[in-house]
Amino acid sequence: MMNSWTTPDRPGEPLADRYAHRSSTLRGAVRHRLVDRALAEHLPTARPQQVLDVGGGTGVQARMLAGRGHHVTVLDPDEAMLARARTSWPAHAHDAPGSVTFCRGFGEQAPQLVGTGWDVVLCHGVLMYLEDPAPLLRVLAQCLRPGGIISVLAYQADALAIRRGLTRDWGGALQALHSPVEDNSIGTVSRGVDRAMVLRIFAEHHLDLLQWYGVRVFTDHLEDECAGDDFDQVVQAEWEVGRIDPYRGIARHFHLIACLRS
Ligand SMILES: C[S@@+](CC[C@H](N)C(=O)[O-])C[C@H]1O[C@@H](n2cnc3c(N)ncnc32)[C@H](O)[C@@H]1O
Repeated sequence: MMNSWTTPDRPGEPLADRYAHRSSTLRGAVRHRLVDRALAEHLPTARPQQVLDVGGGTGVQARMLAGRGHHVTVLDPDEAMLARARTSWPAHAHDAPGSVTFCRGFGEQAPQLVGTGWDVVLCHGVLMYLEDPAPLLRVLAQCLRPGGIISVLAYQADALAIRRGLTRDWGGALQALHSPVEDNSIGTVSRGVDRAMVLRIFAEHHLDLLQWYGVRVFTDHLEDECAGDDFDQVVQAEWEVGRIDPYRGIARHFHLIACLRS
C-alpha cells in the first residue's frame, strides 16, 4: 500500500526525524494543542475511551489522551515513527492513568489488524499522503461502534496557497491555486484534501458532523519559529479564530469531528 509517506523522495533521511523536528516548532505545538483541545470537548469523560489512532506516528496525540485516562492503540505502517512513539511512551507511562499500545500496519487493514467496535477513531495528518483518501475513510467508518466518534485532520485543499503567499513564495502560491499537490516542509509530496469529499463519505456512512475547526490560521507561515512565552495566548487566538467563518476556511488544516449514528 504505497503512498507518498511510505515511499519518500529522500531515502536515507528518515521522514520520522524531519517530522519530529517540525512537531517541536511553534506551529507544530499549536497544531497538537488545538487538536487535543477539540478532542477534549467531544470525547466522553464518564468512562475511559478505547481509541484507535490510525497513522498515529510518533504518538504525541496518544500520550495526551492517555494522560486523560483513555486507552489508545497507535496503528502506523512506518517503523521509524513507531520506534519514536515506543521510546517516548515509558517516560509518561507511570504518570498516565490511561495506556498506549502499538501496532504496525496500514489503516486500510485496521479491521483485520486491530478489530472493530472502537469508541474513537483518529486519523490526523494522514489523508494528505494518499492519492485517494476515500478507501481509508470508508474503512475507518467501519471501525467505530454505534455512537463512536471519528476525528479527521488534513490539509485543506482550498487553502494551500495561503502559506505560500504569506512566505512570499509567489511561484508556490500560483501553483497552489491550480493544483492540490505540493512539496511540503518535511520534503515529501502531499495533497490538499477536499473537505466536502470527506463530508460526503461521512454522510454515506451515517457519520453526523459534530463540529469542524480550522487549525492554524495565524501561525502556519512561521516556519521553524519556536514557541515563546506568549504560547498560551497564541493558542487561544488560534482556537477562537479556528471556530468561525470565514477564518476557519483558510486555515492550513480542517479538523472534522463526527459521531456514528446509533
Ligand atoms: C504526518 S504523520 C502524522 C502523525 C500523527 N498522526 C500526528 O498527527 O502527529 C503521517 C503518518 O501517517 C502514517 N501513514 C501513512 N500512510 C498510512 C496509511 N495508509 N495508514 C495508516 N497510517 C499511514 C505515516 O506512517 C505517518 O506516521
